Amino acid sequence: MKVTIVGAGNVGATCADVLMYRQIAHEVVLIDIKEGLAEGKALDMRQSANILGSATRITGVTNDYSQTANSDVVVITSGVPRKPGMTREELIGINAGIVKSVIKQALEYSPNAIIIVISNPMDTMTYLALKESGLPKHRVIGMGGILDSARFKSYLAAALNCPQKDVEGVVIGGHGDTTMIPLTRFATYLGVPVSQFLSQEQLKKIADDTMVGGATLTKLIGTSAWYAPGAAGAVLVESILADQKRLFACCVALDGEYGQKDICLGVPVIVGKNGWEKIIDFQLNAEEQALFNKSAEAVRNMNNLLATLAL
Ligand code: APR
Repeated sequence: MKVTIVGAGNVGATCADVLMYRQIAHEVVLIDIKEGLAEGKALDMRQSANILGSATRITGVTNDYSQTANSDVVVITSGVPRKPGMTREELIGINAGIVKSVIKQALEYSPNAIIIVISNPMDTMTYLALKESGLPKHRVIGMGGILDSARFKSYLAAALNCPQKDVEGVVIGGHGDTTMIPLTRFATYLGVPVSQFLSQEQLKKIADDTMVGGATLTKLIGTSAWYAPGAAGAVLVESILADQKRLFACCVALDGEYGQKDICLGVPVIVGKNGWEKIIDFQLNAEEQALFNKSAEAVRNMNNLLATLAL
């Protein structure tokens, strides 16, 4: 199985590294517009594959999409990362142009690929990718919810003082600081609702911390995060290539599900060899549904901006 990662920056390279280290793909191609960057990172990773005993073949190319031909999955991380104080929304103009041109070139050589979008603002970039590609909706997936859910679980585990793998939790809605919805009601500690162990005040703080999880990191590092985003992209690829049918929160096209239409937004989906295969209805209560509708409204406003941009 072959995977192309567009953008050999922090997120793309980390995603490639996880794919290589865990031997998720047989072949990984990193592609970037910056001369030598993808080649250099791929060379470094190839040498680490030797140390780690990975059989994954990894190559890097500058702008040469012919090398990406016949990829099963194309992961789009190309774009400009968020700088401190910058919202994901401010990135839209720059990243929309990049995503549009990348989709066209990648699909020319890999017409059967499943597209994963990581570039921000992710919900709008996923919508753009869907519209521009003309692909069936099941083949376009935005990654954000896996990352947001990971941050949610990480904060929950810290509050519970337990191993992260004993915690379950999911974040749906948009992938923005104000649009994501940590579903605290469904979060569990080994299957038991976390509300049995944590106060409402603690749970509120965990949800708040989750929502600004990306901004917290941007403030600390000076650019947006990459370890968790890259790893989240890799597990999404893994569920597709190995047809694992994992249940993830991902940004997908809604057609009436969760009360929304003509929008890509984070909901729980089964992911397998056909891309996202089925949306799972978590039966939101009135309060959660109201938050979801509000999130959709914000993302829709951003999507409408696309129409005003000369891409
Ligand atoms: N084609 C290919 N690569 C491109 C293009 C393009 N048209 N335009 C930009 N790039 C490359 C840049 O050269 C850079 O190497 O995309 C890479 C982006 O890497 P970083 O700047 O390190 O950004 P990163 O932290 O990886 O974030 C990438 O993911 O999480 C989101 O908000 C983040 O949108 C951003 C994306």
